Amino acid sequence: MDRIDSILEKMSLEEKIFQLTQYPISVFIDTKDDLDGPRKAYQLSGKNIALLGTVINPNDADEMIKAQEEHLRTDPNHIPLVFMRDVIHGYRTIYPIPLALAGSFNPELAEECAKMAAKEAALSGVQVTFAPMADYVRDPRWGRVLESGGEEPLVTGIMGAAQARGFQGDDLSDKDHIAACVKHFAAYGAGEAGREYNLAEVSLRELYEHYLPAYKMCIDAGVKLLMPSFNSVNGVPSTVNSFLMKKVLKEEWNYDGAVISDMYAVSELIPHGVAEDLKEAAEKAFTNGCDIEMCSSSYVLYLKELVEEGRISEEKIDEAARRVLMLKERLGLFEDPYHGADQKAAEAFYLCDENRALARRAAEESAVLLKNDGLLPLSPDVKRVALIGPFADSHEIKGAWSCKGRDEECVSMEEGVRKLLPDAEITVVSGCGIAWNETDADLQAAEKAANSADVVLLCLGEEQFCSGEAKSRTDLSLSPAQTALARTVLAANPNTAVVLFTGRPLAIPELSAKAPAILCMFFPGSEGGNAAANLLFGIANPSGKLTMSFPQSAAQCPVYYDRTNTGRPNWTDKAERLRYASDYIDCATLPLYSFGHGLSYSNFVYEEMKLSAKELPKSGSIGLSIKIKNESDISGSEVVQVYMKDPVASVVRPLQKLIAFKKVSFKPHEEKTVLFELNDSMFLFCDMEGKRIRETGRIEIMTGEADHFVLKDEFEMI
Ligand code: BGC
Repeated sequence: MDRIDSILEKMSLEEKIFQLTQYPISVFIDTKDDLDGPRKAYQLSGKNIALLGTVINPNDADEMIKAQEEHLRTDPNHIPLVFMRDVIHGYRTIYPIPLALAGSFNPELAEECAKMAAKEAALSGVQVTFAPMADYVRDPRWGRVLESGGEEPLVTGIMGAAQARGFQGDDLSDKDHIAACVKHFAAYGAGEAGREYNLAEVSLRELYEHYLPAYKMCIDAGVKLLMPSFNSVNGVPSTVNSFLMKKVLKEEWNYDGAVISDMYAVSELIPHGVAEDLKEAAEKAFTNGCDIEMCSSSYVLYLKELVEEGRISEEKIDEAARRVLMLKERLGLFEDPYHGADQKAAEAFYLCDENRALARRAAEESAVLLKNDGLLPLSPDVKRVALIGPFADSHEIKGAWSCKGRDEECVSMEEGVRKLLPDAEITVVSGCGIAWNETDADLQAAEKAANSADVVLLCLGEEQFCSGEAKSRTDLSLSPAQTALARTVLAANPNTAVVLFTGRPLAIPELSAKAPAILCMFFPGSEGGNAAANLLFGIANPSGKLTMSFPQSAAQCPVYYDRTNTGRPNWTDKAERLRYASDYIDCATLPLYSFGHGLSYSNFVYEEMKLSAKELPKSGSIGLSIKIKNESDISGSEVVQVYMKDPVASVVRPLQKLIAFKKVSFKPHEEKTVLFELNDSMFLFCDMEGKRIRETGRIEIMTGEADHFVLKDEFEMI
């Protein structure tokens, strides 16, 4: 008999049920009175608290160790607690937001950042993170796009899987690693109109084609937990959606890890209107495969009764408890219930040189140079620099979901530029407040500073807590004050580079038309200012590409690169439009900047593209080689992107679809041939039932950037 069996054998039904419940650490800390405080809210008493299985949000190692010690003393079976927290893009050292990091198109980098975040977290008493988020997103009105990999499932899946590997390592019992939880299954990003928690109505074809693949890729990478999404999908909240939770997850994917609800999601089945009361919520959630209930009490209050009434079998409770105990075993908690937690060691490791260097590199690789009329890179010998705008001296650049990250530990733009240019005369004028609805700007001060500078860095963007959970917006433009500031500064000094800080794609058509250069840093994290300075002054060369299109206007949303044609398309955005075309009379049809876009200081010339064969048989593959030369004196990296188009099929297929990418570095004037293997599975697509099918016929292959291909070829699927 293995360890888990023998533990389960000793446990009472009630004890097993408590393994299936998660409460915040506050129920352990605030122990003064069972009749008040957090314990009362969760209907816990001193007696049953000893039986608890899992805890959310330990604040540091000392707190976690204290809670664990107390628990091991009082739990009749001495089963260690497991401690979980959202470690999304760093614990204390903050890396760029996932939407930005995905734009590095560098999975090794994402893995490395997750690995370092895991180490900081593990030392601080965290054993499981609620990441990666693998939600497919294409509506930037939704505030949580910042946690995602953007609008292409392949990129989201590859980057999510890389994060999962980084968090988990090869052996979870290794004290530097923590378990990963993929979320939010499924289609959380499809909330209607970009409104948070809103219903998602998604056809089977869309679900299987766009929404499900990235979760699956994270599961294949070995995540140990999965979290269903808050929203309803095709009429039923994911937590109790038997199609998603049973058919897809268990039957089709054979997922055998644990499932944890999102926060309060089980009790929220009542306001959702699919459960009469907590008892029905418990029954529905549990029977649909939700093993752990996060932060509500329906399981501890009603599962026992449901077993006694014969509505749920004790075997099913055993199976769920086994999955939780297995997680603890894999983490090695039965041997070391503290998993290496050590606050002193953690403090020494936080923001250490190695972590900061990685955060800087990640921020440099994630930034996207949206526009450059030749102004950038700036000369480091420049004499007078004006930093203007609310982000000029702001430390608020870590972004939402930054765990224990602190604003004051982020390097601001001003600090970054001063460090790089110690001899330059630097003027800083914020010009207006950072809030999204700020209307007052000190245009005079801004104009004066712009007039007397050789170059201006205009630091604009979206306030950091305007994106994240429950931060949906209908307006994606800059605040009125920032818009006025930009007009004034750009008119005053043509040598103005815009530096953008944001958690989501913004609608900035006017800025884009007027500014000679725009560098989008997103929320770059702890080393943001240093990374931005390095990029602006040519110490580093931009190489990031957008993973989510920037719209012309929020009213265009969703607008994304792998769109399909209509019978009356108009993607040309020409003035002489057809009268009955699929477009807008008052706005362009294409996004302002599309997925895949990002400039470099190098000049990459795509010289030749060759396919090794002109026919692709079933289960076969074709070699693709792309010859690229860096025709510049600047070394740099290029994300080589391969797209396909299937012009005629039984369903309408996208006009362009990314099927592969590689990030390749080039020395000055270096030429390289980049090789890809195109295999049959890249060309399958979903039918109306969501089944992956293969059809014969012509396939076009393109390289370059979406909407701006430079080389094309084609072959036949036979
Ligand atoms: C979020 C999850 C998160 C959980 C725990 C919820 O509000 O939707 O993504 O993991 O809180 O913090």
